Amino acid sequence: MSDRPFTFDIPLPGVIPTRYDHHITRRLSEMVGYYADEQAFAAALAEKDETLYEVYEIRRPERAGELLHGVSIVHPGKIGNEYFMTKGHFHAVLETAEVYYCLQGEGYMVMETPEGECVVQPLRPNTVLYVPPRWAHRSVNCSDESDLATFFVYPGNAGHNYGSVAERGFRKRVVERDGRPQIIDNPRWRS
Ligand SMILES: [Fe+2]
Repeated sequence: MSDRPFTFDIPLPGVIPTRYDHHITRRLSEMVGYYADEQAFAAALAEKDETLYEVYEIRRPERAGELLHGVSIVHPGKIGNEYFMTKGHFHAVLETAEVYYCLQGEGYMVMETPEGECVVQPLRPNTVLYVPPRWAHRSVNCSDESDLATFFVYPGNAGHNYGSVAERGFRKRVVERDGRPQIIDNPRWRS
């Protein structure tokens, strides 16, 4: 890992960075319990263990002062009427923020605080989203055809806390109703 300045490109379309250190793929089988419609989930998994999203990371030392960054790509698709989405997380160091820049596609960032505030922001190409400290975040692809791609940057010491989101989900879900995305209360959310 170099401590000299460096550059790389994010070609459009395609969005796979010309430089990265780590490529993460999240498949359906790693998302057990995340989707509301468990029957639809089981049926989809029986058919194919599809890749729902991918992350290309530029690795940096995981300490304050460093900035971790990379490209996240959520593929199009649905489980039942719920759009493909990332697991979502709080940062392990809750008081750390993140910036997202939407490169292509259309979707939403679902966010909430431990205190109960909830915000769902649309993402489209060239949207910059600031996620303040304390806000959990999950990206959702609402297109039937194209990837939702974002560039992200967050502090090196932030870490990830998937636990509480994995247990109870977010307060809001994004589903398709009458051919359009709709934000609904999560019937399974527990305080
Ligand atoms: Fe994050």
